[in-house]
Amino acid sequence: MVLRPGRKTTIMRSFYAAQSGKMIHPLQLGNLSLPSNLIQAPLAGVSCAPFRELIAEFAGVAYCATEMISAKTLLHRPLRRYTYKSPREGLLSFQLSGNQVLELQKAAELACGYGADLIDLNCGCPVAKIRKKGCGSKLLSLSTTLAQIIQGIKSITTAPLSVKIRVDGDSGDRFNTDVVKAVNDAGADFLIVHGRHWTEHYDTAVRLDEIASIVHHSAIPVIGNGDVKDYPSLQKMFTTTGCAGIMIGRAGVGQPWLFQMLSAQDQGQTYCKPSTAEIGQLFLKHIQGLVELDNEIIATLQARKLSKYYFRAAGLPANLQAEFQYLPHFNALREWIGSAFLSNQNR
Ligand SMILES: Cc1cc2nc3c(=O)[nH]c(=O)nc-3n(C[C@H](O)[C@H](O)[C@H](O)COP(=O)(O)O)c2cc1C
Repeated sequence: MVLRPGRKTTIMRSFYAAQSGKMIHPLQLGNLSLPSNLIQAPLAGVSCAPFRELIAEFAGVAYCATEMISAKTLLHRPLRRYTYKSPREGLLSFQLSGNQVLELQKAAELACGYGADLIDLNCGCPVAKIRKKGCGSKLLSLSTTLAQIIQGIKSITTAPLSVKIRVDGDSGDRFNTDVVKAVNDAGADFLIVHGRHWTEHYDTAVRLDEIASIVHHSAIPVIGNGDVKDYPSLQKMFTTTGCAGIMIGRAGVGQPWLFQMLSAQDQGQTYCKPSTAEIGQLFLKHIQGLVELDNEIIATLQARKLSKYYFRAAGLPANLQAEFQYLPHFNALREWIGSAFLSNQNR
C-alpha cells in the first residue's frame, strides 16, 4: 500500500489502523497516553507554533516541544514567540531552563496556563552563558540541585515532567549514574537522552551504548535522541538501546511528514513523500505563519535559515539556495518559491 501525505483526519485513520507496528507504538508518559513514541525535539530558532502546526498536519508524532525558554524570560519578558500555542497544533511540551526551584515552579505554572501539556527541563544546553548561570548542561554536575528542581516542579503540576540530558561521552565527566539516579528518585516521569557530551559537535557519533546503559539503569521510560533521520537509523536506535521512544530534531525540519513516513514504513508500507511543488507550499505556509507570529522582517531572516532544510527535502540544487539568501521581503520569497519549486517539479 502506498500512503500519500494529507490532512490529519484522513491520515489518522490509517495511522491508528497501523498500530500493530514493530517499533512505533502508543506510549504512556506520566498521565498522558500518547498515540506514538516519536517526538519532535526542541530546536532554538525553529520550534515555534508555525513549525509545530506543520508537523501536526501530518500524523505520527506524539508531541512537539517549544524552543528552550529561560524561566526568567517566561516570568519577566514573555514574548509571544515563546508562549503562543496555536489551536491547530497537537500536544506541546514547554522546555524550560533555569536552576532556581521557585522560579522554575512559577515558570512551569505559567507554561501550563499557556497550554503546556508537558514540561521539560533542559539539562543539555552547551552555551557558555547558560552554563555560567548553572543552567542547561551545567545541571548535570549538580545532581542535588537537579533533584530539588524536579521535586519542586512535580509538586505544583500534574503535567508529565521530562528531563533532557547529555551523556558523558568521551569526556572525563562521569555524571550519567548520578544524574539517572537523581532524575528517577526525584520523580520525573521520563528521561530524554541526547547521546553526545555537551562539548561534542554533530560530527561526533551518538553514543548508543550510553543510551542503552541509561535505559538499563532507569525505572522511568527513556527516550533516545541523536541522528535519527530515516527508518534504518530509527531501527538502529530502538534495537541498540531498547529505548521506549525516539526524539527527532533536525530531520523533522523541512519535512514535517517525516513522522508519518516512519510510521508507514514501520508497517511495511511504501510512503510517497510530497512532490516538490507541495514542499514549496509547505515552506510558504511555514514562512506565512512566521510573518503572522512575528513580522515580515524576522520571518524573512528565518526563512533564509530554514531554506536549506526545505531545499534538501525537495532535492533542489545548492546554487538556488545561494540565490534565495538575497531575497529582501516576503513577496519576493513567495514569487521565488513559487517558480523555483514549480519549475523543478520533476526532480
Ligand atoms: C538549531 C538547533 C537548535 C537546538 N535547540 C535546542 C533547544 O532549544 N533545546 C534542546 O534541548 N536542544 C536543542 N537542540 C538539540 C536538539 O534538540 C537535539 O537534541 C539534537 O539536535 C540531536 O538530535 P537530532 O540529531 O535528531 O537533531 C538544538 C539543536 C539544533 C540543531
